[in-house]
This record gives sequence, C-alpha cells and structure tokens, in this order.
Amino acid sequence: MSHLPDPAVPSPGFPTARPRRLRYHPLVRDLVRETELSARDLILPLFVRPGRGVRQEIGSMPGNFQLSVDTLVDEVGAARDLGIRSFMFFGIPERKDATGSTALRDDGIVQQALRAARKAFGADVLLIPDECFCEYTDHGHCGILHDRGGVPDVDNDATLAVLAEQCVSHCRAGADVVAPSGMLDGMVRAIRTGLDAAGFTHVPILSYAAKYASGFYGPFRDAAESPPQFGDRSTYQMDPANGDEALREVGLDLAEGADLVMVKPALSYLDIIRRVKERFRVPVAAYNVSGEFAMVKAAAARGWIDERRVTLEILTSIRRAGADVVLTYHARDVARWLKTG
Ligand code: PBG
Repeated sequence: MSHLPDPAVPSPGFPTARPRRLRYHPLVRDLVRETELSARDLILPLFVRPGRGVRQEIGSMPGNFQLSVDTLVDEVGAARDLGIRSFMFFGIPERKDATGSTALRDDGIVQQALRAARKAFGADVLLIPDECFCEYTDHGHCGILHDRGGVPDVDNDATLAVLAEQCVSHCRAGADVVAPSGMLDGMVRAIRTGLDAAGFTHVPILSYAAKYASGFYGPFRDAAESPPQFGDRSTYQMDPANGDEALREVGLDLAEGADLVMVKPALSYLDIIRRVKERFRVPVAAYNVSGEFAMVKAAAARGWIDERRVTLEILTSIRRAGADVVLTYHARDVARWLKTG
C-alpha cells in the first residue's frame, strides 16, 4: 500500500495531523485496528500414521505430533474446543513404493483419518487433505518419475491422472476441500475434471499455486518422513528469486478452476501474498511453514524472544499482507491466547 499523498484525501500535516491521537487510548487503538486475527481463519496441519495410541512428538516441531487415527481424532477434538475449525491432513503410510500407490487406496491412512474425524465431528470441522505423492513414494518426489535425458524427474502428465484419483478417493472418505501441493502443470484442471466426473462438483480446490523450492520445509520432511532421496524439488517448485512467475502460476490455477490459492512459505514471501491479493482479489491462503515455526520455537526456548508476542506479530503480518487464511502449526497456541485474551 502506498503512503504517498492521495489527492483525494486531504492531508493537513503537523500540528493539525497528530497520528498519535489514535494511539493514546487502548480502546481507540482497538477501534481502528485494521487486521484481526481469529481462530476461524487458521488451518492446523496434522500428521497421521498407522497404529493405535501413537503420539510421537516431532523433534524439530515442538507441540506437533505424528498421530494414529485414534489420537488424531482426540487432537482434532481438543483443537476444535479451542475454536479451530479447519484441519489439513498429511499421511505417513505403512509402505512406500515407486508410484506411491498406497495414496490411492480407499483404506489409505489419510482416508481412514478423514472417515474417523468425519464420524466423530460431523459438519463441525473442515477436513482438508494435502494432495501429493511425496509421502507415499520411496524416492520422496511428488509424483511418478520418468527419465529426462538420463536424469529421473517427475512425469507431469502421468502424475495428473493419479492425483485426480487420490482427490476422488479423499472426497469419498469425507474431504471438504482438496489441496494439491505438487506444483504440477495442469493439476487443478485434472483434479476439477476428476472431481466433477465423480459427482464432487461442490468440493473446492485450495491450490498450492505459488509454492517455492524452500529451505524452510526442513522440519516438515522429518514430520512427514518424505525427503527426496536424490536431487531436490526445483524442477517443479518455484525459484525463490521469482515474483512475476507467481502471478502467472496463480493466474493459470484460477483459469483451471482453483477456488482458493496458496502462497508458500509465508514470511519470506509476504510480497507475493500482497501481489497475488491485489492482482486477483480471490481468497488467498498462506502457509506459515515448518521452518518458520521451528525458528520461533527454538529462539523462544532459549528465552531470546517472547513467543506469544512474536507469534501473534508474525500471523498478523501474514494476514496484513493479504492472506485471508493462514495454515500454521501455531494454531493451537494462538487459539488459546485469543481465548484467554
Ligand atoms: C508436500 C508438502 C511439503 C509441505 C507441504 N506439503 C513439503 C515439500 O514440498 O517439500 C511443507 C510444509 C511445511 O514445511 O510445513 N509436497
């Protein structure tokens, strides 16, 4: 937003203008606050794995756990009681293979989690599975591989078909929204076509439209046990140096039928969030990713920062930049703080 004088707004200047007048009284500050943080705008990511009674803390993500279906239901219930309504599910399957075939099974781990949470909470919670193959493939890449000039790489078009299948299977299990995160060309169109053909015309697509090849995903790869076994994700995720390209990616996804678009990570990409919001005026989500979370937790544990203050400031900044929705591992803490004032 520009702070240059707008000819439509009279600007008298000091001493008539005293911006501090709006800061003296705490209730005036409350009255004119531009950005509001609310638990209803947050999505809490959760990790589900096979077993019973599993609640294994993720070392680099304090307060976040790998959960089995039963403990995940408890976790959703506890978060819901704090005011969190939306949840993203990531699956850690029993078995991985070259094509990530367990992602498509109607008794797959995320499908089980969706059914159990739906059964326990009905329409009280919004269930959003992440749609990708990196957690299900033994090589850790986000789709089926093929050979590109002697180098294995994700086969874009071959992966689209199975991606649509994964989404349909998740919808049958109770997904409310699907969120493809693989950054494949044409993924939104393929999924929209697949969902519509299966009768899920009403299910929105939250596309990870501008997802960068980022070092900030480090802790997540421990959480989801999904690091690439060779190479990196730069042939599908975006170069952090690029901004215009994000607008192109978002434009394409919207043209293919995306209902909400995501920018990821959030903090190093606040400019992208703002540009996407101003350009397209559609619902924008931002993913406050694992590495961003871990940095706050690590500094707070050493007493170097005030965790509550810094976390609220970070989430407010993401909302102020233009995000309507924030995916964050801080969701539980934030909901608690907002509740207790
Ligand atoms: C899977 C996926 C990743 C994240 C969300 N979905 C990992 C990756 O792309 O490497 C990262 C989330 C986080 O760091 O919190 N494609």
